[in-house]
Amino acid sequence: MDARPIGVFDSGVGGLTVLHEILVTLPHEDVIYLGDNARLPYGPRPLDEIRRFAAEIGRYLERQDVKLIVVACNSATAAALPELQLSLSVPVIGVLRPEAHAAVLATRNRRIGLLATQATVASGRYDALVESLDAGAELVAVACPRLVPLIESDDPFGEETAAAVREYAAQLKDAGVDTVILGCTHFPLIRPVLQRVFGRDVTLVFSAEETAREVAETLARKRIENEVEREGSYRFLTTGDPDTFREMGYRFLQLPIGEVEQVDVATLEKAAA
Ligand code: DGL
Repeated sequence: MDARPIGVFDSGVGGLTVLHEILVTLPHEDVIYLGDNARLPYGPRPLDEIRRFAAEIGRYLERQDVKLIVVACNSATAAALPELQLSLSVPVIGVLRPEAHAAVLATRNRRIGLLATQATVASGRYDALVESLDAGAELVAVACPRLVPLIESDDPFGEETAAAVREYAAQLKDAGVDTVILGCTHFPLIRPVLQRVFGRDVTLVFSAEETAREVAETLARKRIENEVEREGSYRFLTTGDPDTFREMGYRFLQLPIGEVEQVDVATLEKAAA
């Protein structure tokens, strides 16, 4: 038995797609979610800068006495997962591997599309993972810099988002992919827009469920679960504006969101110093 909370982080509200699955799979666990909204978007940044942000947040969450950390951000996973696992004393779970695995299983024509941030595409991590699972599968990657800012805007489901999705999807449709990895935790938040553009014949893959399952298995194997009879709680921290986070978080998570606490970027930087 271990009553410590689980730590989850993302650059913004994208990680709520993962948080939701964790709350449903492990309703007895406590969770702290940190959104680094002050430094969003991560996607256009160099990988070593994202690695530094992830190290700061990982260290900060460790100091909050979490028992496990979920990197609910593909960009941070692509940039920093091994480094976080090496430097932190608690288990660290990322979001790339389950998606690559699910995509290789789902594709019939062995042509897989990837929609992700520039950082994730540039890291080449999905290419390596897909190749390790099926060297004969082809991965067509498209960086989508406009989507994260649109999803975090006042109008995530508007015409501008639909137009951007249509533009990015065209390259994957031309390549004849039958499976598309939503390689950014923000993208499942606009799944209806994506599914309408791709149609029913294309399978959209994202890893929130598998990630939650991996969290559950890790807690069980390491015997660090909380009491199963209890009801867990969850709380939110943001480096951005708490009111904006609460409003967006409520819209996307569709669960009660209480007080959102603000944590300064300087506090995160100090945690890693
Ligand atoms: N949710 C992050 C990801 O999965 C978004 C990155 C960003 O802030 O650009 O990559």
